[in-house]
Amino acid sequence: MTHTLRKIVFPAAGLGTRFLPATKATPKEMMPIVDKPLIQYGVEEALAAGMDEVIMVTGRGKRAIEDHFDISAELEANLHEAGKDALHEKVSTVARMVDMSYIRQKHAMGLGHAVLCAAPWVGDECFGVSLADELVVSDVPAMKQLRQVHEKTGASVIGLARVPAEEVNRYGMVKAEDENGLLRLSEMVEKPPVGEAPSDMAMIGRYIFTPRLFELLKNTEKGAGGEIQLTDAIARLAKEEPVYGVLIEGERFDAGNPLGFLIANTILGLRHPEFGDSLRAVIKNNL
Ligand code: G1P
Repeated sequence: MTHTLRKIVFPAAGLGTRFLPATKATPKEMMPIVDKPLIQYGVEEALAAGMDEVIMVTGRGKRAIEDHFDISAELEANLHEAGKDALHEKVSTVARMVDMSYIRQKHAMGLGHAVLCAAPWVGDECFGVSLADELVVSDVPAMKQLRQVHEKTGASVIGLARVPAEEVNRYGMVKAEDENGLLRLSEMVEKPPVGEAPSDMAMIGRYIFTPRLFELLKNTEKGAGGEIQLTDAIARLAKEEPVYGVLIEGERFDAGNPLGFLIANTILGLRHPEFGDSLRAVIKNNL
């Protein structure tokens, strides 16, 4: 098996119900953390991990994502003429950072189904999957941390983080055993009730899969929430071949819920070279 690993799938077809009404007409992937939309952080991380063939699985109401990564000749000309060079640079960089392909998921049938929609584009290769509402700030990009284990093993690899006991019902939770210093995953359960998770380790939206996953997704029945769950297909994959976990080193923000989103904006805002000091002063005055 080759280790080229350049393809990465961004499922971006979800309805964004946790953010309604903000996401009624705006994709949640386009919600900004300070000055960039969530999806741009995810794409930048993928590129930093050498994964430069990007496919977005989108759905109705997601056109803004395509426009964001496309060239806007009019905007670029306006910024250029106005001498706004720094902004011009930002806008033109994002439009040229990557060649993106798009597939529409016609029915929101769950994360597993969204990933399966990318199967014809991926073909018979290993590939990444990234959920943009999980933001990881780290020295080594999260996807690269997974990639390092994939290159050693040729196997599927999943990004993990420890979560508090009362939050296990928000995530796919795993059980892992040590195998020569690697975490080999044996069980996965999607959003178990509090008190019933197999460990405190959650999947945080970073995955590398062998193409066998697609075969299993094709006949995965609806699971939690009446949706075709990626987690259920991973559990079956782990019974057939090794699936490893990596506890991601870095800071992780679950920006897929309103509180996590506010926390990410506040913390990254406080660190922002331009706005950080002013934001700190405003927060202090309001405590
Ligand atoms: C999805 C996955 C879940 C994972 C989570 C990470 O859930 O189904 O296994 O732990 O992303 O954020 P969602 O947030 O789409 O409900």
